[in-house]
This record gives sequence, structure tokens and C-alpha cells, in this order.
Amino acid sequence: MRVLLVGKGGREHAIAWKISKSSNLTELFLWPGNPAMSSLGSPVGIDKAFSHHDLAIWAKKENIDLVISGPEAPLSEGLADDMFAHGIPVFGPKKSGAMLESSKVFAKEVMQAAGIPTAASHVARSEAECRSMSMALLKDTGGAVLKASGLAAGKGVFVCVTSDDIEEGLKHLYHSDMKSAAEKVVVEEVLHGRECSYFTFIGSQVSRGLGFAVDYKRLHDNDQGPNTGGMGSYTPVKWLPKNAMDLVEKVVVAPLLTELRRRDIPYIGCLYVGLMWHPKKGPQVVEFNVRLGDPEAQILAVYDDRD
Ligand code: AMP
Ligand code: GLY
Repeated sequence: MRVLLVGKGGREHAIAWKISKSSNLTELFLWPGNPAMSSLGSPVGIDKAFSHHDLAIWAKKENIDLVISGPEAPLSEGLADDMFAHGIPVFGPKKSGAMLESSKVFAKEVMQAAGIPTAASHVARSEAECRSMSMALLKDTGGAVLKASGLAAGKGVFVCVTSDDIEEGLKHLYHSDMKSAAEKVVVEEVLHGRECSYFTFIGSQVSRGLGFAVDYKRLHDNDQGPNTGGMGSYTPVKWLPKNAMDLVEKVVVAPLLTELRRRDIPYIGCLYVGLMWHPKKGPQVVEFNVRLGDPEAQILAVYDDRD
């Protein structure tokens, strides 16, 4: 197969490394790729400023059999829609499915409709509404989580346990360059437990679980400092119960696929389920992403290759 891989980070390097071992591969193209990946594939010789539409025309001309997107941004901008319009299969959902990540309001609505366990939530449409909702939730439950609905590069979530935390969150959400992602803000209860992520490949309504991983989010040692996008990770996750995969497939993935089908939203690609695992309540969904995690992809690829 002639494969085009979109992206340029460590995650894409891991995907390229894994694909390059496949006996099905004829040639791997990278767009844009990075210098560390250059021995694994050939760069697509077109300008980075080209649109997905241009990339689809190039892919058609080059007889690309499969496109894989590492990051979410191209998917939420319609990369898969453009490729499918040219008859080229993509591992990664179209814009409609990518909304599971690009709109937290949409993701919560789908979870609620599907009966998937997640934090109770409301949507705030202004700073004043967000303040009163979160202060009320703080008073009732001792905490509140504020989340910009749009993509905010991992910086749009504020877990608050004091009113000062809420004011700080509001400042970032409504008075910074995050404003457009924060047009709608999800205000939800704080979930308790241990965090982990589940990764599965979805195609034709079938889920093929890869496994769980945990990333180290805090910037400093001993789990201190601000959240990052993840700076290291581990798999397998031995503290999970033995039936963890079956349970997540049953209470999260299956109802999600049924709900997406009911809405006529096709989904092909990786589904990343961010979970809070409570000792008694079990798994509750924190978020959905429509791609592999970074750095989780690196360890999943190596773990899968361990023999
Ligand atoms: P998200 O972008 O939704 O994954 O949120 C980023 C991080 O914020 C998560 O990885 C959790 O550590 C934390 N977080 C998000 N939502 C909640 C919640 N409802 N309760 C507790 N922590 C949360
Ligand atoms: N490591 C978290 C993420 O990829 O979103």
C-alpha cells in the first residue's frame, strides 16, 4: 500500500516506525514529517501552506491507498472529508465525527444521549453565566471543572476547588486568546479516581482495542505544577481490573457507536477515551479524542512490538 501520514511530532514518528515494519507497505509519504522521521518515508514535495483539498489532489495523482492523520486538527478541519471526496480512504473520522474532540459541548450531548457514564454538566454561554454556574456547583459539591468547548491545545480545562480557582479559570477562558474556544464553556462536577486512557481502532462499527495507557501530565516532579499535554507515559496499566477492556467496550464504546449511527455520523479511526476510574463507580469518561495520544502512541507502539 502507498500510505500518506499527516503530522510531524513524536506520535507520528511512532506511527511511521510501526507502519514501516508492515509487509503491506509499498511506500510511505510524510506530510510534513520531521527530520527524525526522514529515514522512514519520503516527504510530500508540496508546500505546507497547501490546503487539504490540494493534498487530496496530490494523493489522487500519486495513487495513495490510505491516509492516516496523527493529530486532530486536520481531521476537525475536514481532511477526511476532502480525501473521501476523491475516493481515498482515511484512518481518522470526518469533520462530523471529529467533533467528539473539537466540541466538548457536542461530546457531552452524545454521552448523555447514549447513557455513557460521565460527569454531570451544564453549558455556559457567557462569563456571568459561567461564574454563577460554577460558584453554585462549588458550593454544592466542593468543586467545579470549567472547560472551553473548542480545541484549546490542552490549555482550556480548569479543575477548581476554591472560588479563587474559578476566578483564575474565568480570566483565562474569557480574557485571553482562548476566547473563541470558550464561546461555550462546559461546567461540570469534579470526578474522583485514577486517570487512564483507553485506545481503540474503530472501523465499520467494529472496535478493536489496543489497550490502556497513562501519561504524566504535571510539569514538575511528584505530580506538581501545571498540566501539560503529557510528558511521558506507561503501559500496561496494571492497577486496572482484569475486565477493564470489556467494561469500557460495553459501557462506553458500544453505546457511543450506536448513538453515532443513530445520528448518521460515520466513524473510522482511533478513538481515545480519557477516563477517570473510580474504585466503586468504575470508569467515567472525562473526554473523547479522535486520534492516538502523544506520548501514549510511542509506548503503545513499542509495547506492541516487544516480542
Ligand atoms: P480534558 O481536556 O477534558 O481531558 O481535561 C484535561 C484534564 O483535566 C484531564 O486529563 C483531567 O486531569 C482533568 N479533568 C477534566 N475533567 C475533569 C473532571 N470532571 N474531574 C476531574 N478532573 C478533570
Ligand atoms: N497525552 C494526551 C493527549 O495526547 O491528548
